Amino acid sequence: SDRLIEEIASSWLTASNVVVFTGAGMSTESGLPDFRSAQGLWKQRPESLATMAAMRQMPDEFYFFYQWRIQRLWSVEPNVGHLALAELEAAGRVQHVITQNVDGLHHRAGSVHISELHGTLKTVSCLNCRTHYDSRQLLPQREGWEAEYQNGGYRHGSECVCLQCGGFLRPDVVLFGEALPEDAWQMAQAWSRKADLFVVIGSSLVVSPANYLPQIAVDAGAKLLIINQENTPLDHRATWTLRTKAAETLPVIARRIKKAGNGV
Ligand code: APR
Repeated sequence: SDRLIEEIASSWLTASNVVVFTGAGMSTESGLPDFRSAQGLWKQRPESLATMAAMRQMPDEFYFFYQWRIQRLWSVEPNVGHLALAELEAAGRVQHVITQNVDGLHHRAGSVHISELHGTLKTVSCLNCRTHYDSRQLLPQREGWEAEYQNGGYRHGSECVCLQCGGFLRPDVVLFGEALPEDAWQMAQAWSRKADLFVVIGSSLVVSPANYLPQIAVDAGAKLLIINQENTPLDHRATWTLRTKAAETLPVIARRIKKAGNGV
């Protein structure tokens, strides 16, 4: 409602450390499905697919999961929600973006101060010799590989093998059971403790340790705004919850802040 947006915008204007925390719901309006509300897209749950065990025990499922997402990743654009956040950062109204997303869309929208907690799907690397490649290297060269998957005929192939040493390639994302990149994790914790306004956008907040960050912020005295289409386990600790779409709401909030802040 307008009153709620009004209240949020004026609180945002008085905050000195605004930290934004995003999940897959930030990118669904760019055409990238999220993990837990995308019905039936994946034959396995992300928790069981995004693992080294899956790469070994069900390589066809594992590689298709990533190949499909890599293919989409390179064909989508940042949405107006990403652009609104970049604008707010340029106007000094967002100090840091913590993202669980591996799609690089915040960077492409113009955000600068970003912590990528779960790595990136823009590159892949060899398990053996660590050579890095643009992630399109992992895409099958043949036509129609996506349709093969639907009818159970998909098999991963030589595209999953390092050109230098023949080792298997892996996406440069954090798989379940792996540690988060230390620098990103430290930076994200520091900003969460410093925040006086912590804004969660498009995350189910079910994956740890990322979901500790909003709690760290609230425990340190920050106000919590959650913009998410479904309930989250932290809604009871939020000052405001908006059950709205990120790409619809963020431009509205950005406009209100711009107007109220005399266009600062
Ligand atoms: N606007 C607002 N909320 C949205 C939108 C939207 N346009 N689209 C989806 N959502 C909400 C969904 O309702 C859901 O609650 O975004 C949330 C996305 O939750 P998940 O799919 O669980 O994604 P995320 O929270 O980012 O998952 C965390 O899990 O699989 C791992 O490493 C992966 O980073 C990912 C992590």
